[in-house]
Amino acid sequence: MKKIISKVLSLALIASMAFAFAACSGSSDKKDEDSITIEKGKLIMATNAYFPPYEYYDGDKIVGIDVEIAQAVADKLGLELQIEDIEFDSIIAGIQAGKYDIGAAGMTVTDERKKSVNFTDVYANGIQAIIVKDGSEITDCDTLLDGDYIVGVQTGTTGDIYLTDDIGEDRVDRYSKGNDAVLALIQGKVDAVVIDNEPAKAFVAANDGLKILDTEYTNEDYAMAISKDNEELLKQVNQALKELKEDGTLDAIVEKYIPSEG
Ligand code: ARG
Repeated sequence: MKKIISKVLSLALIASMAFAFAACSGSSDKKDEDSITIEKGKLIMATNAYFPPYEYYDGDKIVGIDVEIAQAVADKLGLELQIEDIEFDSIIAGIQAGKYDIGAAGMTVTDERKKSVNFTDVYANGIQAIIVKDGSEITDCDTLLDGDYIVGVQTGTTGDIYLTDDIGEDRVDRYSKGNDAVLALIQGKVDAVVIDNEPAKAFVAANDGLKILDTEYTNEDYAMAISKDNEELLKQVNQALKELKEDGTLDAIVEKYIPSEG
């Protein structure tokens, strides 16, 4: 008898748990049937906002090239842009997990990343630049790679990935923000920083005693990342980017943040 009662009880428990679970997954499932984004009417963008001039804080507002391009894309799609500032190396996983619609973070298109997310058409280019202190004995790429120098990078960036490949874990110091890597250089904790050229210029301009070597480590394409499960959003964002390129909006945004000389 005791056994039967406990069996009935446990069955009831399982049934109520299943019900709770169904109710819970029902309410948290915000994805609408007729919505191409996670939350209807919104375009949720993941970025890492310490990467001027692509994304950075102006007071408590995040601004920059990626922000304005994403805003222009959102306007075209009739969506409200919502920006989430997270760790750079969490962006792709978050997109895969369905937390963000797009990743716009001066993100380089790589074959490895293409296994995890789709990339939109390319909207900008970058170069991995080498920052050193004035008077450093590191004068070019080969000196940097061949010596026993320690290099600072932002975790999970192409600078991190390629350098770790070229010179090994032990000589690469990872920082969660590009600025922290630059601070480590100023404090003499690392001998050089490898980071994309535009943020490199901004960091060098903001700090005395630093310079960018006249040599490039790699040349890269930037694009936005979108979930592999959302082909429709990819299509629409690409169409929007195409129109923004054709009507000169993309160039105007880039020119605003990176004025061409002359
Ligand atoms: N272009 C490099 C990469 O894709 C660095 C991008 C870092 N972006 C950022 N918003 N912190 O790995």
